[in-house]
Amino acid sequence: MLPWGRPVCRCFLRRQHRWCLLLALAAALALPILVLTGIFEEHLSFFLAPFLRGSSGSALQRPVSGVDSYQIANSGACRGPDPPFLLCLVVSAPSHFQSRQAIRQTWGRTRELGGLGIRRLFVLGDPQAPEVQAQLEQESVEHKDLVQGTFHDTYRNLTLKTLMLLRWAGTFCPEALFLLKVDDDVFVNMKGLVDHLRGLGSARPEGIYLGRIHWGVRPIRDPTSRYYTSEAAFSGDRFPLYCSGTAYVVSRDVAWRVSAVALETPIVALEDVYMGICARKVGVAPQHSAWFSGSTQYPLDPFCYRCIFTSHRMTPTMMEKAWALLAPDREGGCSWLLGRLALVRCKLLSWLT
Ligand SMILES: *[C@@H]1O[C@H](CO)[C@@H](O)[C@H](O)[C@H]1NC(C)=O
Repeated sequence: MLPWGRPVCRCFLRRQHRWCLLLALAAALALPILVLTGIFEEHLSFFLAPFLRGSSGSALQRPVSGVDSYQIANSGACRGPDPPFLLCLVVSAPSHFQSRQAIRQTWGRTRELGGLGIRRLFVLGDPQAPEVQAQLEQESVEHKDLVQGTFHDTYRNLTLKTLMLLRWAGTFCPEALFLLKVDDDVFVNMKGLVDHLRGLGSARPEGIYLGRIHWGVRPIRDPTSRYYTSEAAFSGDRFPLYCSGTAYVVSRDVAWRVSAVALETPIVALEDVYMGICARKVGVAPQHSAWFSGSTQYPLDPFCYRCIFTSHRMTPTMMEKAWALLAPDREGGCSWLLGRLALVRCKLLSWLT
């Protein structure tokens, strides 16, 4: 018999209150643990997935332009003997030279893990400042890791940047199994992430859209807000579920289908919300993973950084410190249980500091 069979039976069928009390006590103990370890949200997103597929959505008024032209195309960046397992496209602002340098010297150095190839590139728009552009071209010659579009690089244009990177991936790196979209102030534990993706099983993974889910977010209708969304762009009361834009992973089929459906979906300036809207349209539900930090910055703690996938709002100095925590063998990655314990520790530490 199930361990819970006896108390459940006694409480609900025989109405013995002592057993009900015991059940309530067990639930009261278990719930915080399930929440703290992220298991609750992960299962919620998993069980909700079948109900989230497909939706008609609104049609486009005008086509999206400027996402297929490049100042720096870097079209050969993905070529090589073996197609990469993971393509990391780091969204960066033109002036963030130091952040890019820090990523190159830390987590972005990883080119291979356990026989799986990794490519990492930075994605930018047009700075509309000739001296910055000259520096970028110099940087591109030196590092060969920039992709630059022709649209004006502003906060409200971040959705164009995401569309461009999805299309770049589909055109110049179509063989990569997974695409990580990540901001330039995020630290990534590559070993942990790659182990997890490898563990997702099949050789040809499909339908994957993985990150930290934002649940039931309401659009902000105040036109002066940085996060403003017009009724014309999205008329609903709440956005569909979407993964935090700080870092999320999609399988290549999702990248391709989203970039296709985006051509007939009105632009919402919040790129992560827009991704959620498009994914919903093509019938892909986001999956929650508690190891993505979303907009949380975890304190620099070795146990924490070994197990989590990402940490946000990292300055170049913090990136170097976090990278040093994973030294000497750069071993990230944890067993399931250690990972859950680490999450609790990370959360408690970030609340306390
Ligand atoms: C986005 O980029 C386009 C093309 O460069 C530009 O015309 C537009 O002003 C930009 N939008 C914002 C909100 O910056």
